[in-house]
This record gives sequence, structure tokens and C-alpha cells, in this order.
Amino acid sequence: MMIKKISTIASLTFGLLAAAAVTTQANASEIQSLRGAMDLDQNSSAPEMKKYAKDGEPIARDYVQQPPLIPHKIDGYRVNLKSNKCLSCHSWKNYREARATKISQTHFEDRDANVLANISARRYFCTQCHVPQVNAPPLVENQFQPITAISGE
Ligand code: HEC
Ligand code: HEC
Repeated sequence: MMIKKISTIASLTFGLLAAAAVTTQANASEIQSLRGAMDLDQNSSAPEMKKYAKDGEPIARDYVQQPPLIPHKIDGYRVNLKSNKCLSCHSWKNYREARATKISQTHFEDRDANVLANISARRYFCTQCHVPQVNAPPLVENQFQPITAISGE
């Protein structure tokens, strides 16, 4: 009896898996990636160059812990082993003169929450988290609303 039950469950599961595999296969051909309907071994055309917004006021945040968006152009701002252009304005040493926001204290913490004397390696490559803005239609529709604690509405 028990064995029969188990084998029924097994065949049911197998049936479901098989059905899932078929639908996945059907959907895969309909999925459009951002590079267009090009075969993997073909070069897609380069995306159109966007115009980045000129220097402006800080942009309101949408949720707590959001890395603030960059309200200025960053063309040619290099960040590599030798130098970090962002820090030339945003470091604690330079922010006053540059009239920029100073990087926050969280940027000095390592992953074990030890506070370091200098910027943490985790926060060195600024554009991993902070991005400049272009006026472009959203790639994916969404209805996200900030919580009232932030939007004030
Ligand atoms: C020439 C100086 C300069 C450089 C270089 C620079 N910034 Fe800025 N940044 C500013 C100023 C000035 C502001 C605006 C401050 C204000 O108006 O309150 C700003 C604003 C920002 C903000 C918004 C802060 C907030 O609270 O909303 C972010 C994020 C930022 N910059 C990131 C970067 C990153 C990342 C880089 C490097 C790719 C960079 N910046 C390079 C001067 C600079
Ligand atoms: C791993 C993601 C990450 C990286 C990398 C990172 N940041 Fe941030 N940044 C954040 C987050 C999240 C916040 C908002 C919360 C906070 O202050 O920690 C923030 C806040 C800021 C702010 C606003 C501080 C304030 O007081 O409002 C500035 C300016 C900033 N970052 C600049 C930089 C610069 C310049 C770099 C590169 C040297 C950098 N960040 C690297 C995630 C990151």
C-alpha cells in the first residue's frame, strides 16, 4: 500500500516535471533579451548612446538604504587601482572644497563591520552601486511607489 502510494507520487511528480519542461521550452523562444533576437554567435548592434543629465540637484531617494543616484555627468571619471576620481570630490578630505556630499560612514566599514581608517575596498568602485541618469523610457514597466515615510505623501 505504502509503496504504491510512493510510486503514485513519483509518477505524478514526473508528470509535472515533464509538463514544466515543455512549457519552459515553449517560452524560451518567446523571450526577448535586451540585445534583441540575435543568435548568440552574432554581434548585436551597439545600443544608442544616451545623453546623460547635466549637473543638477541631488535626486530624492525611493527607499531606505538606496544608494543615491548620481545627479551629474561622470564621463571620463576614472576609478582604478591608482586613482579614484569620485573621491577627489566626495572624500572626507575634499568634499568641502568641492561642495559635494561626503561619502557616508558606512563606506568605511569592512564586511565584518570593523571601521577602517580609509574607504573600504567594498565601496571603492562607486558605480557598482551609484549610477548617473539619462532621460529614457523604463526598460521594464513597474508601479513601484516609495513608502510614505520617504515620499511624505
Ligand atoms: C568635480 C567634483 C565631483 C566629482 C569628480 C564627482 N562628484 Fe558626485 N557630486 C558632486 C557634487 C558637487 C554633487 C552635488 C552635491 C549637492 O548639490 O548637494 C555630487 C553629488 C553626487 C551624488 C548624490 C549624493 C546625494 O546625497 O544624493 C552621488 C551619489 C555622487 N555625486 C556620486 C559620484 C560618483 C560615483 C562619482 C565618480 C564616478 C562622482 N560623484 C564624482 C561633485 C563631484
Ligand atoms: C556597495 C554599494 C556602494 C558602493 C560601492 C558605494 N556606495 Fe555610496 N552609498 C551606498 C548606499 C547604500 C548609500 C546610502 C546609505 C549609506 O549612506 O550608506 C550610499 C551613500 C552615498 C552618499 C550619500 C551620503 C550621505 O550622507 O547621504 C555618497 C555621496 C556616496 N555614497 C558616494 C560614494 C562614492 C564616491 C563611492 C565610491 C568611492 C561610493 N559611494 C561607493 C552604496 C555604495
